[in-house]
Amino acid sequence: MLPINDLPSPEANKIRIACAYLFSPEHTKDKQFLMNLRFDTVKAAFAEKAKRYHPDLHSQESPEMVERRKDRFIMVRESYEILKNYMLPEAKAPSVGGKPRHTIIAVGGAKGGIGKSILSANLAVSLSQVGYRTVLIDLDLGGANLHLYLGETTLPYTLSDFLSQRTAKLEEIMVTTKYGPKLIGGDSSRLGAANIDFVLKLKLLRSIRMIDADFVILDLGGDTSYNVIDFFLLADHGFVLTTCDPTSYLEAYNFIKVSLLRKLNRLFGVESTLGVEKDPLLKELIEEITLSKNGKRVKTIDQLIERVGRECPRHQSFIRDVVSKFRPLLLINMVESISDAIAPAKRIQEVARKMLSIHVEHSGTLLYQPEIKWSARDLMPVVVKSPGGYLSTFITQLIANIA
Ligand SMILES: Nc1ncnc2c1ncn2[C@@H]1O[C@H](COP(=O)(O)OP(=O)(O)O)[C@@H](O)[C@H]1O
Ligand SMILES: [Mg+2]
Repeated sequence: MLPINDLPSPEANKIRIACAYLFSPEHTKDKQFLMNLRFDTVKAAFAEKAKRYHPDLHSQESPEMVERRKDRFIMVRESYEILKNYMLPEAKAPSVGGKPRHTIIAVGGAKGGIGKSILSANLAVSLSQVGYRTVLIDLDLGGANLHLYLGETTLPYTLSDFLSQRTAKLEEIMVTTKYGPKLIGGDSSRLGAANIDFVLKLKLLRSIRMIDADFVILDLGGDTSYNVIDFFLLADHGFVLTTCDPTSYLEAYNFIKVSLLRKLNRLFGVESTLGVEKDPLLKELIEEITLSKNGKRVKTIDQLIERVGRECPRHQSFIRDVVSKFRPLLLINMVESISDAIAPAKRIQEVARKMLSIHVEHSGTLLYQPEIKWSARDLMPVVVKSPGGYLSTFITQLIANIA
């Protein structure tokens, strides 16, 4: 089934164009056909068209004809990938003995320069030093520099190769670093690198979930755009970094708030992973409240839960559950003294409790350390340079809390 009615029109158009390539332009006008389309049908159409256009199957033809078939084949294959992204059931992390086989950790925060990348890199190196198969991904699409913290100055492949479909699988662009973790690096030199569209994002989210590793660490960009938030929401553990600077911790709270609202809205979208009963009334209510559709935005999550209780009572406990399971982990970085973090952490926790009805755990405070400051220049992770040192001990404690 294609969620053609739920999508913004550029996405719906993309689906229509893909259907025109795999079926016919007439089919794209038939809403019922699009809505009821099954993946088996798409697969069969792809197989049939692939046979017709695959250049290798027609190599005896004139070079122009082969070239024409090749162009057509590329479009057919792209169309198939687009529809597949929308139609395949959500890829769930496979499990071993009932436990998730891999854990995704996101490192976010609403600003740049607050230590997200350095923490991600050292966390990944530490995890791999204790024997976990770890993959680190630079998802700061506009400001990719994670590789430098792992001592890699250039990368043979980057995420751009995957996003531009030069490679089909994330595994193909993983680079084994000298310090242990595998790295999927970024390349923000490409114009528009940060602007990945909806279909590509879905593909990336799904591919990250499928990575075969014990830990996948996501180093995020420093803003509250939907792309960043969606990567954050993918994680089993989401760290939110901030400094003690008021602009930074206010933004950190904002990041937490936007993430929770997005999580609630995504319960119903194509990206939904929660398998919720899709009650249109509840969908409408949540949209009205969180997106302020009719100007009736409620001020607190408590008010939202209360309205759900009044208007869709059978879903109230479900929504309460979704909210209570959202547990961001706050890290305060670059403080002069550990006690400097107490007030900002308390402030964020209080506001989050009052406005969002959630508990924000204060997971740690990290001192400003010259050794950390110069780690990119040294091209060596701090935990390798100073095993048993300050950052190494800090990260060991973090891992003990989540592993
Ligand atoms: N605890 C710390 N002490 C000293 N310098 C730090 C600390 N945390 C981060 N830095 C420095 O701050 C700069 C930005 O860090 P980075 O991890 O690249 O931030 P982000 O990924 O949030 O943009 C780097 O030079 C880094 O070494
Ligand atoms: Mg960074």
